[in-house]
Amino acid sequence: MIKIGVLISGSGSNLQAIIDACKNKKINAEVAVVISNKKDAYGLERARKSNIPAVFIEPKVEDFNKKAIEVLEKSKVDLICLAGFLLKISEEFTRKYKNKILNIHPALLPNYGGYGMYGINVHKAVIQAKEKVSGCTVHFVDEEYDNGKIVLQKKVEVLENDTPEILQKRVLEQEHIAYPEALKIVIKMIFEKTKNH
Ligand code: GRF
Repeated sequence: MIKIGVLISGSGSNLQAIIDACKNKKINAEVAVVISNKKDAYGLERARKSNIPAVFIEPKVEDFNKKAIEVLEKSKVDLICLAGFLLKISEEFTRKYKNKILNIHPALLPNYGGYGMYGINVHKAVIQAKEKVSGCTVHFVDEEYDNGKIVLQKKVEVLENDTPEILQKRVLEQEHIAYPEALKIVIKMIFEKTKNH
């Protein structure tokens, strides 16, 4: 069974979508551990409610990345999902888990990505630019922000009277569909790779 480690910083609604997809057998995997850089992240509570180890790592005092790698190694994860995770992960981390880290971004990359483009900022920029279409992207993570190979995108219409908050909500709904679908694709790739060797 593929083991997934999920890194969060906030409410963890994408984490919940992944947990539910595992529970409903939509994806053949289990969430082995949830790590957050925020002690009060509601996503830690969501993990505890599903009897998943929930680990808070203080980013200030110690090197968050080193500690997170330790926890992920102990949990023997095969894949890592960044889900509303707001720290930049280190080169050591991306090298160690090359092609095994996914992230979800609330826009159609490569547009509206990169440093500072997270949360409501993304939707403000999309509306400011009078875009007619937005959406979300699940992509592999490499050393650059929002730069890795795209796995899957979901499009969302931007409506005339959309506020950034309304658009964010509509995009978030698609994120909850996109992440489990992307995981299904990546897990299939992993099985095919192992079968062919
Ligand atoms: C949201 O802005 C979402 O678009 C992005 O991370 C933020 C929080 O998501 N992916 P979550 O509810 O913590 O998963």
